[in-house]
Order: sequence, then C-alpha cells, then structure tokens
Amino acid sequence: MNDPVSIQLKAWATRVEHKLEHFLGQNSGLEPRLADAMRYALFNGGKRIRPALVYMSGELCGATPEQTDRAAAAIEAIHCYSLVHDDLPAMDDDDLRRGKPTCHIAFDEATAILAGDALQCFAFELLSNEADLSDAAGARRALRMMRVLANASGMHGMVAGQAYDLTHVGDALTLAQLEQMHRHKTGRLIEAALLLGAEAADADTQTLDRLALYGQLIGLAFQVQDDLLDVEGDTVTLGKPQGSDQAQSKPTYPALLGLEGAHEKLNELHREAVACLAPFGSAAQPLIALADYIVTRDH
Ligand code: IPE
Ligand code: IPE
Ligand code: MG
Ligand code: MG
Ligand code: MG
Repeated sequence: MNDPVSIQLKAWATRVEHKLEHFLGQNSGLEPRLADAMRYALFNGGKRIRPALVYMSGELCGATPEQTDRAAAAIEAIHCYSLVHDDLPAMDDDDLRRGKPTCHIAFDEATAILAGDALQCFAFELLSNEADLSDAAGARRALRMMRVLANASGMHGMVAGQAYDLTHVGDALTLAQLEQMHRHKTGRLIEAALLLGAEAADADTQTLDRLALYGQLIGLAFQVQDDLLDVEGDTVTLGKPQGSDQAQSKPTYPALLGLEGAHEKLNELHREAVACLAPFGSAAQPLIALADYIVTRDH
C-alpha cells in the first residue's frame, strides 16, 4: 500500500524493529531456545500500530523519536507477549498468527509461556533506562511511564480484559459489558501508547487527557474492527484464522449487534475520535489519518 498513512506506518515500524533488535542484542548469553522464541514473537510481521502511536503522540507533544524509542519498543514487547499468551491452548487456542504458526506451535507451550513472561519484563527494563535515571526529572518521567504501562497491561488493563473474555465465553453480554471488556483487553494498551508518547514530552494534563480520550475511542474501534474482520476477513489476508471468535462463541460486537450494528458503532467511534483531536488543529493530521486506517484496515 502506498497511501501516506501506510508509508508513515512502515517508517515507524522499520524504526521500532531496528530499536528492538538493538535493545535485545544487548542481552547476550540468553538461553538460546527462549531467545529464539522471543525473537519469533517479536519479529514476525506485526503492523506495529502501538509503537507508531507512541511516536506520533510524542511528535505532536514535542518529543523527538529518540526520546520515544524505548517506550515504542516497550509497548510492542507487551503487545507481542499478550498475543503469544492469547494464542495458547488455554486461551484462544489458535495456531496461526501474523501468517505463521503461533509461538507455542513453532516451539512448545512452556517455551511460549516463558517467552511471553520474558517479553513483559523486557518492556519494563526498556523503560528503566540507566541514562534517564541520572537526573531527577528523567527519573520521574521514567517512573510515570512505567506506571502508565503497568497499569494499562495488568489487572486494571489488558489482563483484566483477557480474564473477562475467557470467563464469559458463550455468555450473552450486555452492550455495556462488551464495551468494558474491549476497552480493557485492547483499549488500555492503545491509550497507553498515546500517553507514553505524551509523557516522554512532559505534556500537560489537558494534553494527556485529550490524547487519552482519543486513545480510548480508537482503542475500542480497533477491537470492533478486529471482531468484524474475524467475520468478514479471510485467513490469508488476516494472517490469523478467520472465524475463530464464532467457533469459540466469543462475545463480540458483530455477535451482539449484527454486522450492520457493529459497522455503525465503528463509524461512530471514528467520528468521536477525530472530533476530540480538533484542539490540536492541523498538527493532529497523522493521528486523524491513523484513526481512518484503524477503521478501514483489512488485517
Ligand atoms: C491483534 O492486534 C490483537 C488485538 C488486540 C485485537 P494487532 O492487530 O495490532 O496485531 P499485529 O501486532 O498487527 O499482529
Ligand atoms: C486479543 O483479542 C487481545 C489481546 C491479545 C490482549 P483477540 O483474541 O480478539 O485477538 P486476536 O483476534 O487473537 O488477534
Ligand atoms: Mg483472545
Ligand atoms: Mg485471540
Ligand atoms: Mg480477534
């Protein structure tokens, strides 16, 4: 794809992949099978949406890409860990991810669990960089960023959403329950990407709140589109098994609202997300383009 947003996404993806290679490279002497599984989970063709959001939010708030590299790499490490665990037999039991066998198929379950664990810790190592801790302002910033990522990832964030997803397989959820689940399992990490970019620039509270709201809206939209693609997409383009949600009676937007209702919800979230960027004026153009991409993406 050669549209401006795809070109921009590719550029940020290339950057974060180089950074991940670099930061991982510093961990020489790793247990080889664990290292191979971590690399397999990280470098297998993800879209790198969350790192792109870190870079874009940072740029909007005045941080350089160098100042946001570690946060971009950290959030992708958390995301990749979440995918490795999401695919495990005890969770969604999927065998295809990003067009390749899932981590537990390519390696084994224990190795996949450990690779996910190690990727999670790696993320926080990245944010607790020695150089940033050498002055008080840098140390405070690093702590704020670690808190943002921990809160969005753990029992108040992605993990809570995943737990809800698994305990409600086959249940008829209300719209409010479904929204809560999606806001946690996918929305919180996407919101965190925006906040990490802004925190790297020491943005003020009003800016943080605006970007958080935009993140919540596109985060929910992202999972609504993910649910729609599970119904309307195809396995080759998706790189993951189409129909997996239906096969497992997962609570999803199309299951609750029907395809038309889910599309309407997606458009409404898109409109609201773009509207809340208005105070940033033309500087928000990359984030507007990203909102467009999220609701039109095919994988
Ligand atoms: C898939 O995320 C899982 C969800 C949170 C819906 P992505 O669609 O961002 O997956 P990759 O990283 O591009 O493979
Ligand atoms: C997963 O949601 C969200 C996380 C990994 C946290 P899904 O289970 O819908 O993601 P896919 O469809 O397997 O990528
Ligand atoms: Mg899942
Ligand atoms: Mg899944
Ligand atoms: Mg899905």
